[in-house]
Amino acid sequence: MAEKRILIAEDDRPTRESWSELLSSWGYKVEVTEDGEQALEAALAHRPQIVLADLKMARKDGLTLMREIREAGLDLAIVMISGEGDIPDAVSAMKLGAYEYLRKPIDPAHLKTLLANIIDHLSVREENDRLRRRLLGEGELGPMLGRSLPMRKVLTLIDQIAPTDASAIITGESGTGKEMVAKTIHALSKRSQGPYIAVNCAAIPETLMESELFGHERGAFTGADRRRDGYFELAEGGTLLLDEISEMRVDLQAKLLRVLEERKLRRVGGSVELPLNVRVLAASNRPLDRAMREGRLREDLYYRLNVFSIDLPPLRERPDDIALLVDAFIRQFAAQTGKPIQAADHECLQALKSHPWPGNVRQLRNVIERAVIVGRPPLLTLGDLPAEIKPGQGDGSMQVRLGSTLDDVERELIVKTIEFTGGNKTRAAEVLGVSLKTLYNRLERYERKEPVESE
Ligand SMILES: Nc1ncnc2c1ncn2[C@@H]1O[C@H](COP(=O)(O)OP(=O)(O)OP(=O)(O)O)[C@@H](O)[C@H]1O
Ligand SMILES: [Mg+2]
Repeated sequence: MAEKRILIAEDDRPTRESWSELLSSWGYKVEVTEDGEQALEAALAHRPQIVLADLKMARKDGLTLMREIREAGLDLAIVMISGEGDIPDAVSAMKLGAYEYLRKPIDPAHLKTLLANIIDHLSVREENDRLRRRLLGEGELGPMLGRSLPMRKVLTLIDQIAPTDASAIITGESGTGKEMVAKTIHALSKRSQGPYIAVNCAAIPETLMESELFGHERGAFTGADRRRDGYFELAEGGTLLLDEISEMRVDLQAKLLRVLEERKLRRVGGSVELPLNVRVLAASNRPLDRAMREGRLREDLYYRLNVFSIDLPPLRERPDDIALLVDAFIRQFAAQTGKPIQAADHECLQALKSHPWPGNVRQLRNVIERAVIVGRPPLLTLGDLPAEIKPGQGDGSMQVRLGSTLDDVERELIVKTIEFTGGNKTRAAEVLGVSLKTLYNRLERYERKEPVESE
């Protein structure tokens, strides 16, 4: 850190003069103010790394100063100093996020070590921030890649909201990276050491959803032979992703909203309210305004969660990202398989860039995984790609012979669509405009060679 700037806010003149002398002698650039009012202005103007603030001051006390510094979004360490008998305020100081709390008279040796530690801590963080910003400039945020304009916006937004505790709704077609966004937000947040839990609301049977989410007490219902923590409790201190949020029963959505507002939770069959510290993110394959209009998603819950919205564009709308992703996936799978594949040759990359990728990034990743397995080092060629990716083939059309039955055509369409999405059935169902369940039902019937009844 080039210059160590420290700001003193203390209304007692002899005290602040002696502190100022001491800190200057340790190599700090010191600025002295007489109260919270002056200190806030000075902090905004000169951006010190550390503020040494007296708790009790005539014009704007230390706590107010700290709150306003936080509200102004200033990122600095505050050391709060109090006279005797200020214990309750000292406790709130720590809660409000003071770095440390010291009692007068200050022991100089202790203060010296404390300040040195803070400076060390800040420079590590500064270095990390610098590195992260540099990578972000190159289209990388943790494991997430994206150099296209829309993805740069997404990555920047993730970077901004990650350190806050705000909720967000993540939307995008299947395979666009919603889960990855949620994980990245968690990894870049202050909760990164806590748990990350993802729950797919569409995969939990309706009757079990409440107890799965909120837990249950022993004997809460038939079969509840022991107490069970719900996903919310498992995510305590961390992040919970509610995937396919609109698949949740509307009455449970009401309970969920209550839990989010009150930050308290009651297990099924329980009588005590447990305090909760969980950041909640939600995701959906489909735009949620339709679910709201159809009454499947409560509006109030939507607005509670939608503090930020992150909409992931389909891969076909951002071909600029393909080369970057291909490169990263080749590196990843080459390392995994131990095969020295370096890159895709020109023709192969062109084919990859011009494909519409109905199954989005997941499909691209699968195609590269397969290509690395079948390909010969050092370069992937067109021949290593599956038929539907190669230009001129699998162009998205299908032959229908007159005289075919509707059943035949439907079966062919379903099979071809699944091929087209690279085996991504969720995405195939989206493209066909049916639910995943319907798609599975059809496939099952084809297996059993049963005629499809009309629904
Ligand atoms: N921007 C990205 N950079 C690198 N890898 C990505 C990116 N987006 C997605 N992926 C990869 O694509 C795959 C699918 O991503 P993910 O599971 O997050 O999609 P999703 O939107 O949650 O899909 P679904 O709706 O089917 O659940 C994962 O393997 C992920 O690693
Ligand atoms: Mg997902």
